[in-house]
Amino acid sequence: MEAIRVEDLTKHFEGIVAVNQIRFEVKQGELFGLLGPNGAGKTTTINLLATLLKPTSGRAWVAGYDILTERNQVRRSIGIVFQDPALDVKLTGRENLEFHAMMYGYSKAERQIKIKEVLKLVDLEDKADLLVEKYSGGMKRRLEIARGLIHEPKVLFLDEPTLGLDAQTRRKIWEYIKKLNQEKKVTIILTTHYLEEADYLCQKVAIMDRGVIIAMDEPQKLKDMLGGDILSFELENNYYSGRWQEKLKNLPWVKSFSWENNSFSLTTELGERRIPEIMEMARQEGLAIKSVHLHKPSLEDVYLYFTGRKIRDEDGILETRNQRAKRLSWRR
Ligand SMILES: Nc1ncnc2c1ncn2[C@@H]1O[C@H](COP(=O)(O)OP(=O)(O)OP(=O)(O)O)[C@@H](O)[C@H]1O
Ligand SMILES: [Mg+2]
Repeated sequence: MEAIRVEDLTKHFEGIVAVNQIRFEVKQGELFGLLGPNGAGKTTTINLLATLLKPTSGRAWVAGYDILTERNQVRRSIGIVFQDPALDVKLTGRENLEFHAMMYGYSKAERQIKIKEVLKLVDLEDKADLLVEKYSGGMKRRLEIARGLIHEPKVLFLDEPTLGLDAQTRRKIWEYIKKLNQEKKVTIILTTHYLEEADYLCQKVAIMDRGVIIAMDEPQKLKDMLGGDILSFELENNYYSGRWQEKLKNLPWVKSFSWENNSFSLTTELGERRIPEIMEMARQEGLAIKSVHLHKPSLEDVYLYFTGRKIRDEDGILETRNQRAKRLSWRR
């Protein structure tokens, strides 16, 4: 049985189609990424699966339970770390966890054991009795992950777990997420704007745009769809020989080829291994090569290929957690 099964799930908000007939499955123990720009429908998808929103149409099952008819069972089976921070900053880390554990009905003795365990997992044992308002952004995020794990969920939703954190803290959080998935066998669904994060962590990703899933596969397979590595050669001088270009183009391992004045590019698998061969062919032709550039397709290239634009906002700036909190503050 898969951990999550989604069939034609759709959510309308006053005239907006936030999620539009999406379908996907997540296997047990999988780390699955939902990628997409602001407003793509990622959070709405998570809220639907977590039974915090009711779908307009379509169906889904989480840990085998129907999100429409078995909401309590779904809620027991999941943990969720919200995109917007949701900690009581006037309490200590431990008190935040205590409160959450009480809501799940654990006894005092059970709470002590669970809290100790989750604090250890995110390396916050020595900060447990500090007020959360004194925590750094990364520490708060780790505490939220710990809280999401207290009741040992089978499925954990992480909505933008590292948004707005510095690169070093993000990497640390990646390690906790990996550990959880590998050692605790928790199925994880995470959303992110950071394509390198999805590439590093996720076994499978779905790219979402305007409520629709436009591509879904293992990160490497998506990159392979672009035809392998991109190799570019710059020549000392302009050169044109139809015969020589044909020869390059017809090499059995060249997938695509383009030529412009004093440079040419080709896509091929295992690009680094083909460089010497091309250099030798150029030498025989009497051409001097000025520079070689090897570019491995990234998920960023895949994203660009499918959406025709970069994942950043129109103004090219990624919204930080604080900016987002400010933008949404009127809702509260
Ligand atoms: N409660 C709501 N009422 C009305 N519209 C909503 C509501 N929640 C979300 N939307 C709209 O639905 C669309 C999808 O929003 P959603 O929050 O799911 O996007 P997202 O992919 O999580 O974006 P972000 O990367 O900014 O978090 C947006 O157009 C948003 O304005
Ligand atoms: Mg969101």
